[in-house]
Amino acid sequence: MKKYLVIGNPIEHSLSPELHNYWIKNNVIKATYEKMKITNVQIKNLISEIKNGKINGLNITVPFKQEVIPHLDHLSDEANKTQSVNTILLKDDKTVGHNTDIEGFEYSVKFNNIDLKNKNIFIMGAGGVVPSIIYALNKMQVSNITISNRTKSKAENLKNLFKKVKVIDWGEIPEFDMIINATSIGLNNQEKINLNLPKVKNKLFYDVIYNPKETNFLKFGKEHGNKVLNGKMMFIYQAFFAFKLWHNKEPEINNDVLKLLDQ
Ligand code: ATR
Repeated sequence: MKKYLVIGNPIEHSLSPELHNYWIKNNVIKATYEKMKITNVQIKNLISEIKNGKINGLNITVPFKQEVIPHLDHLSDEANKTQSVNTILLKDDKTVGHNTDIEGFEYSVKFNNIDLKNKNIFIMGAGGVVPSIIYALNKMQVSNITISNRTKSKAENLKNLFKKVKVIDWGEIPEFDMIINATSIGLNNQEKINLNLPKVKNKLFYDVIYNPKETNFLKFGKEHGNKVLNGKMMFIYQAFFAFKLWHNKEPEINNDVLKLLDQ
């Protein structure tokens, strides 16, 4: 029986086990997938369990996507360029870190038939998932990316990885074709971003949050006649590509899978 885990802190809300266990069953694979709340000190040991075969794969979530890196033997090019790892496996006796959040974001956009080429993008937030989003946006050949974060230094740090991003003060809003909420504001239904969002229309409002389905940010976008997307397909596609790396099979994204996340 193969063993897979998603590790993070907090982890209670993670729906990764629902998704992976559905696909494991559907593909008749002998494996289990569980969630585990951990602290930093456990990372080293968990990765050594990959090396000795006790664990076959790990998904990493907030706040450890960067912290696992020093413990790994090798990084994929994308994980290296974003300094972010969400999927770990053993290859040729080496522990390897991958980043499938990039494809998660990319395919969530493609799934909705949206072309971002030459578009202006505004990102709010500079947390763990933002390097992956920037990498994916660059791949999709956007025109420019502006970032604003409450703690400005964290946004400035992103310039070490991505020279071309522009950083502005929290509170400033540039012109954009697409605005992305990559902060955690909205995870709790009552929370509202303390910004004066412009009353634009025919733009794209994207929220990385998928639960609740419609944050106040997306409600605002919709009310003013914009297209809105939540983080559900990004979440599904990052899991899809992790599954493919581990099991060498493309799992099916069907209505049951979509419903699994409507909790
Ligand atoms: P981490 O920063 O550990 O990677 P995250 O959930 O990925 O965690 O990121 C949280 C993001 O939401 C950060 O950009 C955070 O801003 P700070 O860097 O200033 O902390 C942002 N955020 C959370 N609560 C916020 C609030 N009330 N107002 C503005 N931004 C907020």
